[in-house]
Amino acid sequence: MSQESNENKILNEQEKTLLLDHNYDGIQEFDFPLPSWWVWTFVGGIVFAFFYIMYYQFLGAPSLKDEYNQEMAMVKQIREKAAAESGGFSNDEYNSWIASNDGVNKGREVFNENCASCHKEGGLGDIGPNLTDSYWINVKQVNPEALYHVVFTGVEENGMPAWGEVLSKEDIMAAVSYVSTLKNTNAAGGKEPQGELIQE
Ligand code: HEC
Repeated sequence: MSQESNENKILNEQEKTLLLDHNYDGIQEFDFPLPSWWVWTFVGGIVFAFFYIMYYQFLGAPSLKDEYNQEMAMVKQIREKAAAESGGFSNDEYNSWIASNDGVNKGREVFNENCASCHKEGGLGDIGPNLTDSYWINVKQVNPEALYHVVFTGVEENGMPAWGEVLSKEDIMAAVSYVSTLKNTNAAGGKEPQGELIQE
């Protein structure tokens, strides 16, 4: 069909005046303005981008990393508070609980289920550090109270999850009791030492 006959068929007089001269391989277009919502969204995007770039590039806005660190510091505070409120426990409380609950065996189960994926069965270390040596990254003293604190709050920036949100206080105590039996045993095939030497 020729262009002429097409025009005659589908275009009224007003439409003919709006038709652009150019012919794109047989396709012709009307010269309508863009919808105003589209134009304003476009202009708004440019204005927003201008202020956004000024703020984040030149006016000292916190970087994504700063914001992440601020938020992680807040999370850490909340966790430490939760650890304190969970009562933590004294070493005495722990000792009597372990004695009456077969804690180490239960702890081995908890450990194999939740911790061995990173610390390897027997605590030999893999993604997480070797727990059978005498070197520690996050504790100054290797006692149940200190270990409980690490396991409860985690060290998420270094890949150790916060177990206070996942496991019960008893399960964490049990896992800690098992870990306490591993320290200084220097089991064969363990990962190389990390952290400070703490002999106790
Ligand atoms: C997703 C991997 C992962 C899992 C699962 C995991 N850990 Fe860890 N753990 C780590 C890493 C990584 C570190 C070292 C953190 C650091 O470098 O500060 C660590 C550190 C520790 C430490 C402190 C060691 C030190 O030298 O300071 C203890 C204790 C510990 N984990 C116990 C546990 C227990 C108990 C569980 C199970 C309830 C567990 N972890 C599960 C990755 C894991």
